[in-house]
Amino acid sequence: MIIAIDGEASTGKSTQAKKIAKRLNINYRDSGAYYRAITLFLIQNQINPKEVIGSDIFSKINISQNFENNIFSIFLNDEDVTSKIRGHKVSLNVSEYAKKPEIRKFVYNLLRKSSELNSIIVDGRDIGTVVFPDADFKFFLFAIPEIRAQRRHREINDESIKIESIEKEILIRDDIDSNRDIAPLKKAKDAFGIDVSYLSIEEVFEKILQKIII
Ligand code: CDP
Repeated sequence: MIIAIDGEASTGKSTQAKKIAKRLNINYRDSGAYYRAITLFLIQNQINPKEVIGSDIFSKINISQNFENNIFSIFLNDEDVTSKIRGHKVSLNVSEYAKKPEIRKFVYNLLRKSSELNSIIVDGRDIGTVVFPDADFKFFLFAIPEIRAQRRHREINDESIKIESIEKEILIRDDIDSNRDIAPLKKAKDAFGIDVSYLSIEEVFEKILQKIII
């Protein structure tokens, strides 16, 4: 079984995906975390998003994800980068790197390999449209920007970062993600859309679960 949860930035996709993975005892992959880890590597190595990323560079990028006992971790070349990839610098740059076809192909391979042996839930932007168009269940989460920024602000828990700058960053990412040529952020025709603006985590979870467990 494959479940796709796509949607706008900061709509709680990964929170929901983890809860579903735990409840159904299936595997979980955070596709955005792959793009973020690749972005971190390329920034650290001063590789500009305008450059073509060749196989020589990809051969130096080893990423693994792990979801165990309800804890998600991601490793970049054996370093645990779970927190680092959520930093402001990565958030500001990730969408420019995620536009690149060679980077997308690299992530698609990782995701499709992960689905070969196990049932899986994956969250992202193009999971139901491009990566797994035949997924068994597809969801698309969206919400008004102010609420998304407030939630992300609370999650970051850093008073030095203004809510307005988070909202701006979220809107810029949504704009780049929605308007790119390859695999833009959009609802798959057969995805179940949920406006999460005024719903609690539990309420969204119940809506998703109801669709899966009939
Ligand atoms: O957590 P949030 O929704 O804010 O972002 P994320 O899921 O960590 O994704 C970070 C960025 O990676 C997005 O803004 C996209 O630019 C890119 N991404 C993508 O292009 N395709 C995906 N399937 C997932 C993420």
